[in-house]
Amino acid sequence: MGLLHMFSFLGTSTASKQIAVSVVCQDPEKVPARPPQVAPHQRVLLLRGPKQPYVEVSDHPTPSLDGNREFLVRNLVIGLNPIDWKAPDFNFGIPELPYISGRELVGEVAISPKRRSRFRPGDKVIVISTDYRDLRKAAYQQYVVATDFNAARLPPSLAPEAGSALGVAFVAAALCLGICAGLDFSSIANGPNLLSIVRQIDPARLAPDVRDECLHGIDEESRAKKGDWLAIWGGSSTSAFMLNQIARLAGLRTISVVDVRKHAVKLSTNDITRPDIVVDNHDPQRAIDIVRSATAKRLRFGVDTVGRDTAGHLLECLQQHYANESDPEPTTPSTPSSAHLIGLTGLPKSSPPANLTFHNVPFKLFHEIPELGETLMLWLERLLSTGLLVPPKILGVEEGFGAVNQALDRMRRGEVSGGRLVVRLP
Ligand SMILES: NC(=O)c1ccc[n+]([C@@H]2O[C@H](COP(=O)([O-])OP(=O)(O)OC[C@H]3O[C@@H](n4cnc5c(N)ncnc54)[C@H](OP(=O)(O)O)[C@@H]3O)[C@@H](O)[C@H]2O)c1
Repeated sequence: MGLLHMFSFLGTSTASKQIAVSVVCQDPEKVPARPPQVAPHQRVLLLRGPKQPYVEVSDHPTPSLDGNREFLVRNLVIGLNPIDWKAPDFNFGIPELPYISGRELVGEVAISPKRRSRFRPGDKVIVISTDYRDLRKAAYQQYVVATDFNAARLPPSLAPEAGSALGVAFVAAALCLGICAGLDFSSIANGPNLLSIVRQIDPARLAPDVRDECLHGIDEESRAKKGDWLAIWGGSSTSAFMLNQIARLAGLRTISVVDVRKHAVKLSTNDITRPDIVVDNHDPQRAIDIVRSATAKRLRFGVDTVGRDTAGHLLECLQQHYANESDPEPTTPSTPSSAHLIGLTGLPKSSPPANLTFHNVPFKLFHEIPELGETLMLWLERLLSTGLLVPPKILGVEEGFGAVNQALDRMRRGEVSGGRLVVRLP
């Protein structure tokens, strides 16, 4: 654990802050001096316990930097994510209390990284904070620590509000398709071949809980490729919005299960972001039948963005590819016909049937393997600056930390649909 990691661990009591300051001062080489405009204390939103609202605090220590790849960002706009309310409500993903939440933002570089980098003071950057155990990187604070491999320059063509709401969904979609489905992105703005990258690094660097997914989740012959079908259940989610665009850019055909009454018009009016086929979710059995027939029993890849039950529906869509009467013998998992169900938020309880693999998205690769995070961020910069990737719709812009709890309540009630809420900071 780095010095400054300890710093955030110490909490907000006066005694803790004094200890923290004295620890920091013992190693001035490691911690760059804070420019005068960055105050030693800042406003943050703290979570003091599960099922509690976030509380605004004005005298929390400003986080300090560790290592030569970190830099300090003045937060301008926070993008709100479902995890921001689900974690406190269901008491998961909270490694310590009080806790600071918030997984993405756009800010302005206040202190650039020590080592040579493309980030300069004053630059606007998209910061994606998947490293939820390190509170210095959380978005619900005025100053946020970013690493140069988990941040992207905001192109001038993109408003900070739009930039603040696309990062988590982009990383989820890229890892989902690039690792779990093995899709190679090199045909899209010279994107990365993520599976090759992870399979070339020392396996000891991969966390034990994601190693198997990275090394054995899909074999070479089964990797998704141009012409394959991808079904997305929960096609109106922000993650689905990104999944659909990237998959189609790579030449996959997409079929998206959504509440058609709510989302069909919005989804079909933009040629770049629309799925190839949209199916209504109202009657799941009917939706399964439609997915099966529309993909002519050749569906091999399904991503669920909703939960265990809908992942089960998707499993039924996928099972048909070898239940075809002309192919009575289930093939072995190593044949190209193996199918893959990827769950962003849950998978069926049962074990997968033969020839079908369940996948969890190895999200932590993004912050634990710098070369992978960096290649994704450079690709994101290219995708955004060339206009190849369209950011999700911004459904509301709130003002100040004081607006966060109410905005999250709207998300809890299911009122935020087909886009994101963001919160601007003064
Ligand atoms: N594990 C990871 O690494 C990771 C990363 C990113 C996201 N996630 C998780 O993935 C999920 C999606 O995240 P997100 O940010 O993309 O979500 P989001 O933008 O908040 O959207 C959620 C969508 O799910 C739709 N939905 C709900 N019930 C549905 C059903 N029965 N059938 C079809 N659609 C349904 C909703 O549509 P309506 O508006 O029509 O209700 C809503 O648009 C969340 O649970 C999130 O926590 C996980």
